[in-house]
Amino acid sequence: MTRVLVADPLDEAGVERLRQAGAEVDVRHDPDRAALLARIGEYDALVVRSETRVDAAVLEAGKRLRVVGRAGTGVDNIDVEAATRRGVVVVNTPEANTVAAAEHALALMLAVARRIPWAHHSLASERRWERHRFMGVQLAGKTLGLVGLGRIGTEVARRARAMGMTVVAHDPYVTGERAAQLGVELMDLDPMLERCDFVSIHCPLTPRTRHLLDASRLARLRPTAYLVNCARGGIVDEAALARALAQGRLAGAALDVYETEPLPADSPLFGLPNVVMTPHLGASTREAQASAARTVAEEVLRVLSGELPHSA
Ligand code: NAD
Ligand code: MLT
Repeated sequence: MTRVLVADPLDEAGVERLRQAGAEVDVRHDPDRAALLARIGEYDALVVRSETRVDAAVLEAGKRLRVVGRAGTGVDNIDVEAATRRGVVVVNTPEANTVAAAEHALALMLAVARRIPWAHHSLASERRWERHRFMGVQLAGKTLGLVGLGRIGTEVARRARAMGMTVVAHDPYVTGERAAQLGVELMDLDPMLERCDFVSIHCPLTPRTRHLLDASRLARLRPTAYLVNCARGGIVDEAALARALAQGRLAGAALDVYETEPLPADSPLFGLPNVVMTPHLGASTREAQASAARTVAEEVLRVLSGELPHSA
């Protein structure tokens, strides 16, 4: 019997699909890494989201493993090279949460621009009616710079344009023609950072994009600018960002992702008066989770039956 371990929370639709196909599925979200290493040898397939780190040690212990399924987009928690060396196929669901992540980036942008979390806290928790304290800025007429114009960047661009924003983007792998079709001007990164009122990050975390927004790049942002990161934490130097925010060199930031997740209790981002934070919720809609779970199940089943997956 084919055995599948689901190690992170996965929508029931995906578990059901795997069982329907005859697989024996164990759902165990156990953060204990030693337990994962001890049991992974019994499984033909492993399904994860972003919490479980599938590194060379897990792959080495997974003697029977044929496929690792990632219910989501980023595969930076999986050592794809080590998997490939061992003949283990890595599949993901790159389209399932595109709209969810794009909507979350826009929600964060609006939240920080209109100071919604602070106004909510003041009214709902402190019972204060402080209309004059929470002056915001509007998005219409402002320039949004996207770092990455792939699936999510494209959906953010479409929505931001509909809201009256001018959209520019930096993406070394996208043609000017493609950008022009979206009504987006392509730019180099540094001049883009200097020009924009809002900057939203939508590139993957790779060795080349780690700390792409370091202290010197953050210093290029205007003091009235807002930074949104709904992609991956390591793309922004978090300590440098916290300093820039604390010193008022940036109007605000809205973050969904962090260099270390879960965010450590002593993070310098906590307590800043100009940061909106959510705990990696970009893909957390019912629609996106159901779609990611169904798609990853189909992909895993394809590999287990010897077919080529769509996403590898
Ligand atoms: P994608 O591959 O469709 O697009 C990424 C784009 O980034 C590509 O166009 C690529 O050319 C570009 N890029 C690569 N290197 C770059 C660089 N140095 N500078 C600028 N652009 C660069 O991916 P996507 O589906 O749009 O997802 C983007 C990222 O968002 C994912 O890698 C994932 O980490 C993250 N994500 C987060 C959530 C969340 O829950 N917060 C949800 C989904 C995806
Ligand atoms: C992704 O890359 O798909 C997101 O970070 C969401 C998730 O981890 O589920």
